[in-house]
Amino acid sequence: MKAWHITGIEGIPALQLVDLPSPEPAPGEVLLRMQAVSLNYRDYMNVTGIRGVTGPIPRIPCSDGAGEVIALGAGVTDWKVGDRVVVPFMPTWLDGGFTQFHSARALGGAVDGLLCEEACLPANSLLRIPDYLSMQEAATLPCAAVTAWDALMVRGQLTAGETVLILGSGGVSVFALQFARHAGARVLAISSSDEKCARLRALGADATHNYKTDPAWDDWAIAQTDGLGVDRVVEIGGPETLNRSIKATRFGGHIALIGVLTGTAGDVQTVQILRKGIRLDGIYVGSRAMFQAMLATMSGAQLRPVIDSVFPFKDAPAAFSHIEGGGHFGKIVISVTPL
Ligand SMILES: NC(=O)c1ccc[n+]([C@@H]2O[C@H](COP(=O)([O-])OP(=O)(O)OC[C@H]3O[C@@H](n4cnc5c(N)ncnc54)[C@H](OP(=O)(O)O)[C@@H]3O)[C@@H](O)[C@H]2O)c1
Repeated sequence: MKAWHITGIEGIPALQLVDLPSPEPAPGEVLLRMQAVSLNYRDYMNVTGIRGVTGPIPRIPCSDGAGEVIALGAGVTDWKVGDRVVVPFMPTWLDGGFTQFHSARALGGAVDGLLCEEACLPANSLLRIPDYLSMQEAATLPCAAVTAWDALMVRGQLTAGETVLILGSGGVSVFALQFARHAGARVLAISSSDEKCARLRALGADATHNYKTDPAWDDWAIAQTDGLGVDRVVEIGGPETLNRSIKATRFGGHIALIGVLTGTAGDVQTVQILRKGIRLDGIYVGSRAMFQAMLATMSGAQLRPVIDSVFPFKDAPAAFSHIEGGGHFGKIVISVTPL
């Protein structure tokens, strides 16, 4: 089978297409023929070494994939050949609290990921793809969608009528917009261009703001909420956006701290967090049980992921260059199945 390998520290040019032996499913595992993989900013960071590749190279990148069951390991009775399945970001985190054990098993990080034609996964981790979703759509869900779901619906306990602020129009933020609107929340969104702002409004954002032409989006969000501040922020920026997010949040509000787009450390107005009684929640994706609950809600509402573009498997490096450029809206997909 073919797989893409991270082979060095030169960034995207270090991605190499290699031939590997087909894996054999161990007892309790299922062999999948991967059909689609989606990119997350994390995958780009791992390939380019922005955050450093955890573990030895070569490494197969990418956490998010969907595929078809093609063989069963001994003892597997829940799946049959031909089933369409999607793979959770951390296959060992089935339910309950987050642990270091699960974190170390995130796909495409310390262990091989799914940018390959075949992969063996624990049978008990997999989830059936709802009939209305394509393989490409399902492949967009494990990281970005589950993170947005955890941020808003699990840790956030979002209720109708609340105001949610989302930053940008990438994978996590667009899912957050869809989930928040479905829950009956009001959504404020900021983005780097007027064109993307218009697309966010078309998807249901109630008001948008271009942060390139006016960087004071915290003041804008406060003005949009009659001076009170928003109930929740889906914080994907990190150190350079967090202080504005804190300012934009109401007393007693909630910030889901998710992203590292502007770095991994910085000066934080800690005093404002305590003065305003803000709950600051570190989020790292979510469990299989959260994924299952999210799929049930998505199926009920027939919510569809927003796909920006689909690249052929042989052009995987171009997909990484596309996420690097930042012009995308929603999710970037790589089709493992020939297009
Ligand atoms: N903790 C977790 O579990 C978890 C899970 C998933 C992702 N993440 C992190 O969350 C972040 C987003 O991930 P993603 O996969 O959704 O990325 P993505 O699809 O690449 O989206 C990035 C988008 O964010 C917007 N953006 C960039 N810089 C910004 C800034 N300074 N202020 C406001 N918006 C900005 C841009 O949209 P516009 O052009 O519209 O402004 C950009 O296209 C990354 O740091 C990623 O590592 C964390």
